[in-house]
Amino acid sequence: MEIKTVGVIGAGQMGNGIAHVMAVAGYEVLLNDISADNLTKAVALIDRNLDRQVQREKISAATKADAMARIQTTTTLTDLGPTDLVIEAATERETVKIAIFEDLLPHLKPNTILTSNTSSISITKLASRTDRPEKFMGFHFMNPVPVMQLVELIRGIATDEATYLACLSVVEKLGKTAASAEDFPAFIVNRILMPMINEAVYTLYEGVGSVKSIDESMKLGANHPMGPLELADFIGLDTCLAIMNVLHDGLADTKYRPCPLLTKYVEAGWLGRKTQRGFYDYR
Ligand code: CAA
Repeated sequence: MEIKTVGVIGAGQMGNGIAHVMAVAGYEVLLNDISADNLTKAVALIDRNLDRQVQREKISAATKADAMARIQTTTTLTDLGPTDLVIEAATERETVKIAIFEDLLPHLKPNTILTSNTSSISITKLASRTDRPEKFMGFHFMNPVPVMQLVELIRGIATDEATYLACLSVVEKLGKTAASAEDFPAFIVNRILMPMINEAVYTLYEGVGSVKSIDESMKLGANHPMGPLELADFIGLDTCLAIMNVLHDGLADTKYRPCPLLTKYVEAGWLGRKTQRGFYDYR
């Protein structure tokens, strides 16, 4: 099946980036969010991020104009019914995602491929709550979506080959690289990245280094573009903690125990850049 139209659910950090890259690649995009205000903000952010790419000569002004013209928005989830591919990028909570699928499914074409950008929730479990587990899979982008090269494609236990190949061809059309991951907690990137970030928080918690020295050590000593604590603030400390909990519960190994300091920051509402405060103060 040829994919021409893409529905994106959730206009947050990931959803707006997904809409951005899909529109640049030539797909007609319908971006959905429960909040009209979030949609307005997302379109303004896409416009600014496309401008950056024009200024740095990554894309032409005409490509930007065409991409913006391909993005429509709606607060009505069921408007996504006729799209060929749906990518759910709503809040990282299982109950929220399942409720969205339940509302959408009665309106969805029978051959629409349904995917989730979840960074850690079981694809097999989400798929089992739909009417099309064979046409369901994980489509996991990295943040910032317009910059990061990788997309993880995660097959649930029932995902069929045609669905995988259709998603793979979308990733190729985006000019990105797909990594095929099996459906185990946190897949590949977060299985490796989150314990590293959690260990950086333990390093701070145990007084081995300061925020600055931990980040500088990993930037200059391991050539990471961002230090682990800066990256945690960028991803969101609530997301980091949620993924550590998925690893801890799903793999039942104490090596995935979330650092108490990470939990404390989340309890304080210090979630990183999005709340202006995390390991760094952005106020
Ligand atoms: N849209 C478009 N372009 C963007 C952008 C955006 N949102 N954000 C940055 N850019 C572009 C910039 O314009 C710039 O372009 P040029 O190379 O042409 O100059 C380039 O990206 C680099 O940006 P900056 O110069 O502003 O800043 P930087 O050099 O410090 O890079 C960064 C910023 C790309 C974020 C870099 O620090 C980086 O790669 N950090 C690590 C990010 C990372 O690890 N992401 C994965 C997180 S894990 C995840 O996403 C999975 C999960 O489930 C939690």
